[in-house]
Amino acid sequence: MPNVMSIETVALDDANSELVLIDQTQLPGRVEILRLRTQEEIREAIYLLKVRGAPAIGVAAAFGIYLAAKELQTDDYSEFLRLFDERRAWLEAARPTAVNLAWALRRMQLVVEENPQKSVGELKTLLLKECAAIKNEDTEMCRMIGEHGLTVLKDGCGILTHCNAGQLATSKYGTALAPIHLGRERGMHFRVYTDETRPLLQGARLSAFELMADGVDTTVICDNMASQVMKNGWIDAVFVGCDRVAANGDACNKIGTSGVAILAKHYGIPFYVLGPTSTIDLDTPTGNDIPIEERPAHEVTEMWYEKRMAPEGVKVYNPAFDVTDHELITGIITEHGIAKPPYTESLRALFTKNN
Ligand code: MRU
Repeated sequence: MPNVMSIETVALDDANSELVLIDQTQLPGRVEILRLRTQEEIREAIYLLKVRGAPAIGVAAAFGIYLAAKELQTDDYSEFLRLFDERRAWLEAARPTAVNLAWALRRMQLVVEENPQKSVGELKTLLLKECAAIKNEDTEMCRMIGEHGLTVLKDGCGILTHCNAGQLATSKYGTALAPIHLGRERGMHFRVYTDETRPLLQGARLSAFELMADGVDTTVICDNMASQVMKNGWIDAVFVGCDRVAANGDACNKIGTSGVAILAKHYGIPFYVLGPTSTIDLDTPTGNDIPIEERPAHEVTEMWYEKRMAPEGVKVYNPAFDVTDHELITGIITEHGIAKPPYTESLRALFTKNN
């Protein structure tokens, strides 16, 4: 089986007009590369989590909308803009919580809106440049998150993570796992405990897979074992990713993250959220304003089981994300540095300083 660390999570094959992805629903059993051409296939891949993780969704959507634009036959600017906007809105509705999806599509849309004097052919070329830039910037942001994250870790320490905020969730390195991958490049060793992350098992299937591929000492635990592992003294820091950080520092991430933060506070363990500034949404005042995606019941009752594990007809609640209160967060590690409380000021300062 090819080493997943050497395969690109999301790529564009412009010559063949294809979005190229690792199908994350097949991991760890099979490394299958998908080549998607139609908008329906691309939207479905995002909805079904074949590509997932906030930054990777953003990059996939940027490539996807470029492929949509490339197909548009009109030479008329207004008609091009109208059709582009229609396809953008449709793709954006695939998943509501991770702000990177809307953010990347908005960047692509601005290219069209800000260049009404250009021909449709020229707009398509500019759109290609923009989606390639979104991916390249993502790689660089993740590398820098890794650099800043490493400043709070010691060689040999124990880290607990939830969901997958690794290379599979981004263009390279990941966010929460970036310091670990970067540390590995420098010969460092970490012990990583990964929550399995019910119901879609991103921790057991994906984080464990990519960490082991990178030679990291990896232990999978069920979500309800985190307290015991912390009590044993095995965890020096919790590192998690984020799908959207509100202006006050409330951080939305995979369901179960807020429980881990509450446990970390109980045991006095630092709890860090790692993400690029593209995941910080200053237009969303608090975590209560973040839309939380709800997913189908079968993900809880039968998916990944050999047979159904809950009675037919039982009610199921399946929110895909939760919000960790900013008071539980030790620091928010971005490509520009580590924001500390009070987040209302520190997050705004990050943007003002770096724009
Ligand atoms: O539903 P998913 O698998 O897309 O959820 C992913 C997460 O919650 C990640 O932690 C988050 O997107 C950050 S990825 C760098």
